[in-house]
Amino acid sequence: MSDRDELLRIEGIRKTFPGVVALDGVDFDLCRGEVHVLLGENGAGKSTLIKMLSGAHRPDAGRVLVDGEEVRIHDAQEAERLGIATIYQEFNLVPDLSVAENIFLGRQPRRFGMIDRKRTEADAAELLERVGLSVSPRARVRELGIARLQMVEIAKALSLDARVLIMDEPTAVLTSGEVDRLFTIVRRLREDGVGIVFITHHLEEIAAIGDRVTVIRDGRSVGQVPAATPRDELVRLMVGRSIDQQYPRERTDAGAALLTVEGLTRDGVFHDVSFQVRAGEVVGVAGLVGAGRTEVARAVFGADPYDSGTVHVSGARLRRHDVNAAMAAGIGLVPEDRKGQGLVLDASVAENLGLVTLRAATRGGLVDRKAQRAAAARVAERLGVRMAGLGQHVRTLSGGNQQKVVIGKWLLANTKVLILDEPTRGIDVGAKVEIYQLINELTAAGAAVLMISSDLPEVLGMSDRVLVMAQGRMVGELPASAATQDSVMALAVSTPTSNEAATEVEAARGH
Ligand SMILES: Nc1ncnc2c1ncn2[C@@H]1O[C@H](COP(=O)(O)OP(=O)(O)OP(=O)(O)O)[C@@H](O)[C@H]1O
Ligand SMILES: [Mg+2]
Repeated sequence: MSDRDELLRIEGIRKTFPGVVALDGVDFDLCRGEVHVLLGENGAGKSTLIKMLSGAHRPDAGRVLVDGEEVRIHDAQEAERLGIATIYQEFNLVPDLSVAENIFLGRQPRRFGMIDRKRTEADAAELLERVGLSVSPRARVRELGIARLQMVEIAKALSLDARVLIMDEPTAVLTSGEVDRLFTIVRRLREDGVGIVFITHHLEEIAAIGDRVTVIRDGRSVGQVPAATPRDELVRLMVGRSIDQQYPRERTDAGAALLTVEGLTRDGVFHDVSFQVRAGEVVGVAGLVGAGRTEVARAVFGADPYDSGTVHVSGARLRRHDVNAAMAAGIGLVPEDRKGQGLVLDASVAENLGLVTLRAATRGGLVDRKAQRAAAARVAERLGVRMAGLGQHVRTLSGGNQQKVVIGKWLLANTKVLILDEPTRGIDVGAKVEIYQLINELTAAGAAVLMISSDLPEVLGMSDRVLVMAQGRMVGELPASAATQDSVMALAVSTPTSNEAATEVEAARGH
């Protein structure tokens, strides 16, 4: 490739945070019209590296060159001036502003010195159309679900007409249809000569969208390979060993029903949802985004109310809309929105891991802090939480490591019924296997696990039974032996009228 094609070059970048060397000499380059994938375990330094390019962090040492000239990117404005746009792993939208206002924040078209609202909305509508998002430019961002927020972020980046587009795990919260749409946009941008830095933990996406891959391990670039490199080789480069079994489910004989949900209805959200999870079972819940899975989980956990129906744990009826009662009965929920609901960001890793156990312990009257800390240390070690120490604030952990803490917290809590909502979103391949093994240990010890996941191979690989939801209804139930990508998807896209849905459930049950 001739020098003319090179847009960006990074040489020997170093960055240290208190107690952590985040980047320890990274080299990287980006050409016009290519998708360059950054691959690495949770905490390897991917997000930190791109923050050097977006002006969010400054390097301690090393050089950044744009068009062959050394630059210092002090802030976001400088990055924008250089034509670098970034979609962060954490959303950067203002909840109370409209979609259009968020897209053009600080750059709204003006007319006679005033913000031209009509034009802002028209321009936003055009961008929304481009990313295939059908929401009104006037909708409040607060009202959008997580997948739609991501599409708004993408529309915002497109509005900048960048030459370099950086995307930090853009597909983590998207469904397969949305990923396809995103890839179409990315390919079009690539044809227009935009250079794209793409971060993902979904290895199958790399060959589909990437050209080159740079692998980062412990803050160092350890290799550069073509995107067509076989998966096993990518894994080996990334985690330093190979992984034989991706879904190590060890089935246990199912015991008594621990969780029984009957006729659960929340008007306009979900309708007549019934299912059971027995001791020793992992029950997967598949469905499209918006099918109502998260809403049902939250209602069962008592986080949201419902209008009719019942929830029983080990035969005892649970009070409606009462999280404390649910927790006392032994239900745990690892929420989808980890930052909003799962963590206290300005508390330490140890404190976050102890949040649930502490509650149980103080109820008994005493807190064995030493034992608690030891247990926290064990879980952190098992999951490979990359941190300076148990005292590090969760806010400064990498995205994937924050997720590990949310899960670890509930694994420590001795729950009888654990509900996991998108448990491995943003988790690297090695840590995923650890989480699956912990799920095995839980069910071997007699717990019941309900696992909501949009990662179909994960649902198929780890569940003993698969429930499928569509448009707020349970539309099918398949035993692991009959659940395939096709059979699950066929149910997930079905439009349930109540009769049809009932027949399908019957058909699946009769299996
Ligand atoms: N502001 C900060 N203060 C302290 N440590 C930090 C800060 N930001 C990042 N780190 C640390 O730097 C290391 C690299 O984090 P980074 O977010 O770059 O990882 P990542 O590769 O993006 O991981 P993930 O796949 O989980 O998103 C981690 O150990 C993290 O805890
Ligand atoms: Mg990251």
